[in-house]
Amino acid sequence: MSNNTQVSVLGLGEMGRALAAALLAAGQPTTVWNRTAAKGDELVARGASRADSVEAAVTAGPVVIVCLLDHGSVLETLEPVAGQLAGRTVVNLTTGTPAQAEELSAWVTGHGADFLAGGIMAIPTTVATPDAFFLYSGQQRVFDAHRDVLEVLGEARYLGADTGLASLYDLALLSGMNLMFEGFHHAVAMATSRTEGTAADFTGLLVRWLVNMARVLPAFAAEVDAERESGAEPRLVQTLDLQIAAMANIVDASRAAGVDPAHLELSLAGLRDLLGQGHVVAGAPTAVRRLRLAGPMAGSHVARTGSPSGTHGNGGGGRG
Ligand SMILES: NC(=O)c1ccc[n+]([C@@H]2O[C@H](COP(=O)([O-])OP(=O)(O)OC[C@H]3O[C@@H](n4cnc5c(N)ncnc54)[C@H](OP(=O)(O)O)[C@@H]3O)[C@@H](O)[C@H]2O)c1
Repeated sequence: MSNNTQVSVLGLGEMGRALAAALLAAGQPTTVWNRTAAKGDELVARGASRADSVEAAVTAGPVVIVCLLDHGSVLETLEPVAGQLAGRTVVNLTTGTPAQAEELSAWVTGHGADFLAGGIMAIPTTVATPDAFFLYSGQQRVFDAHRDVLEVLGEARYLGADTGLASLYDLALLSGMNLMFEGFHHAVAMATSRTEGTAADFTGLLVRWLVNMARVLPAFAAEVDAERESGAEPRLVQTLDLQIAAMANIVDASRAAGVDPAHLELSLAGLRDLLGQGHVVAGAPTAVRRLRLAGPMAGSHVARTGSPSGTHGNGGGGRG
């Protein structure tokens, strides 16, 4: 649902153009600005107002959506118009780190404007479709005031008042995606190391397998939460002996297939570290804690030795 609020979009790259096009399609009065002005031509032909300067774009209305290359380009673009920001709302959809979101929030609000940090979980072709969702953090009052405009772009998910949260979730989601792509590349390199079979045929099997495995993730997540909240013992655990044997097989077979196993060797080393610390079984909570840099296992429950309980059962012998 749109309203009559004038919205300015700064940045008309692939994503900024998709955002502006979605606003126009929803009937939202839209002003556009881009460093390279010609990228706005098609939007202007569809009814957007062109701003010839950042100042003209910012002063065109109360809401300014920023979608530029990176944090540096956002600062470079907004700093000259700092004096025009008061009373407006800046919604930053440029990908960046939580620290950058916090820095920008302090700077924008310091100039008398409201600020929302955003993360775009879409690609240009899925903007304003049911596949798109957008993450927001910052003051709830600001999100509520502009929610109907933000919903035009895709499902608007408010995460909380902690300004860095949208960026944190955005980058965490991207980390999951990137590691999945890495896994895909590794798996395809292995599977196509012989003459038989194609990447396409193999990928049909890989997608089927990954979709099945992805369905298990909420159960793992519940165990991470239960352990954090009450120290509950995870039940979905496997013995480290089994996990190490399985990972060693993958590393050996990768090397034999001429595929670099370096990132899997890191995982194998991590599992061996856990064994060395006295763990017998491990599940998702242990794996998550192991990745934390600051005292990864410190503060966690004491490792115990004992007889392993077998796979995917209650790990009676050592923390999972
Ligand atoms: N594309 C996606 O699928 C996608 C998905 C999620 C999030 N995002 C995020 O959306 C943001 C924009 O991505 P995009 O795909 O639109 O990138 P893009 O096509 O490369 O566009 C980059 C934009 O930044 C502008 N820009 C770069 N440096 C600038 C500077 N120093 N001063 C002013 N403007 C500058 C460019 O202006 P010129 O046209 O003048 O070069 C252009 O408008 C990024 O943060 C990206 O991570 C993109």
